[in-house]
Amino acid sequence: MKLCMIGTGYVGLVSGVCFSDLGNDVVCVDKDVDKINNLKKGIMPIYEPGLEELVLKNYKNKRLNFSTNLRESVRKSDIIFICVGTPTKKKSNNADLSQVYSVGKEIAKYINRFKIVINKSTVPVTTGDEIEKIISKKVDKKYFSVVSNPEFLREGEAIRDFIYPDRIVVGSNDKKSKKILKNLYSPLVSKGSKFLVTNRRAAELIKYASNAFLATKITFINEIANLCEKTGIDVEDISIGIGLDKRIGSRFLRAGPAYGGSCFPKDTKAIVSTASKYKTNLSVIKSVIKSNNIRSDLLLKRVDSIMKNRIKNKTISFLGVTFKANTDDMRDSSSLKLIPYLSKKGAKIKYYDPSGAKKEFIKLKNVKFSNSIQESIKDSHLVIIHTEWNDFKSINFKKFSKNKKLIIFDMRNIFPPNKIKNLGFKYFGIGR
Ligand code: UGA
Repeated sequence: MKLCMIGTGYVGLVSGVCFSDLGNDVVCVDKDVDKINNLKKGIMPIYEPGLEELVLKNYKNKRLNFSTNLRESVRKSDIIFICVGTPTKKKSNNADLSQVYSVGKEIAKYINRFKIVINKSTVPVTTGDEIEKIISKKVDKKYFSVVSNPEFLREGEAIRDFIYPDRIVVGSNDKKSKKILKNLYSPLVSKGSKFLVTNRRAAELIKYASNAFLATKITFINEIANLCEKTGIDVEDISIGIGLDKRIGSRFLRAGPAYGGSCFPKDTKAIVSTASKYKTNLSVIKSVIKSNNIRSDLLLKRVDSIMKNRIKNKTISFLGVTFKANTDDMRDSSSLKLIPYLSKKGAKIKYYDPSGAKKEFIKLKNVKFSNSIQESIKDSHLVIIHTEWNDFKSINFKKFSKNKKLIIFDMRNIFPPNKIKNLGFKYFGIGR
């Protein structure tokens, strides 16, 4: 099938390259000329394991192309995917849908035969109805169908999540489109993925409700971790103990710093906003947002207490600063609250992240990027393991640090406490 992905951000690029790998002809379109030229040269705009290899392979065999020409790309395609950003608006918690609607208007200009217009961007309920209205101002409804097909890709695992999804959700009221989409996704369905068809609005809400539920699960275990810290219990035992109940499930029960990234913080706010538009109070999600917002303050209080309120002039090493491992993404990472606070209190911060130095910290006093784990740990009083990169899981602290009083605060519980304590260092984790 001939597919056109509009927007070569995370969703558009990953989905586009994966669809081409399944044998479709895909053109990824973006108005950013530099991005498109770079992609043609094999330079990726994002860090995502496995992406570059797949792009190079499929670009070489001509199943994948990149273009800035929306008109040509739409005209020659059967299915058009809208994959543009829906950030939080500056002055409210609503999703900013301006990019989605402006792409809808553009598509409407170039529809020359029947097209399926799929919205993959994360959007509030009824956005599909709006896109349909926009297009139908220019095009007869028999020439297009607007479908919702949300993505469930995690950064750092996106290729795997695309190829082995738990489910594929298609929201459409039109039989013809459902059949075409089932065919498009058949290579994944035949490997065992569930294919769920709902009406368009339900698919839109499934996406928001999924992210809000996962954020709730994480926040729940983070609060239980707070209680564990006061009662001498290891939260890891609780995660395993409750996760073994199939009704609960073991995933997304890792306690840690506040959840971050480009999705959970934005989507929890947006679903609450949408609900209030329909006079519905999502009180659970509201308290999740609140709890997550104050989590960094709790962690900072813990750092204060671990350091016995003597932060000034202490050297603190951060291992990992991104919001999770295997990504260079800093959006809503808790390190953006922790590092400025500690630097303001007079700590000298050294940080190492496998994805490199971060522009967010350039202007901060006493915050420096180290070129290696060893360099970052050397001469430190406290090491904070902030992100769970594999690179950190077998650090030999004894070899890297001469400081016998080194303290380790493992915010991702990647080490068994005794392993560190047996080396003679002080160990603190989350909820243990
Ligand atoms: C999330 C969803 O997991 C995807 O299904 C969804 O498609 C995506 O948002 C999106 O809407 O585009 P992502 O933001 O990439 O994916 O990352 P997650 O792996 O979900 O992690 C989000 C945050 O929760 C991170 O800060 C992570 O460290 C934290 N987390 C996750 C925990 O603290 N504990 C856990 O057990 C799991």
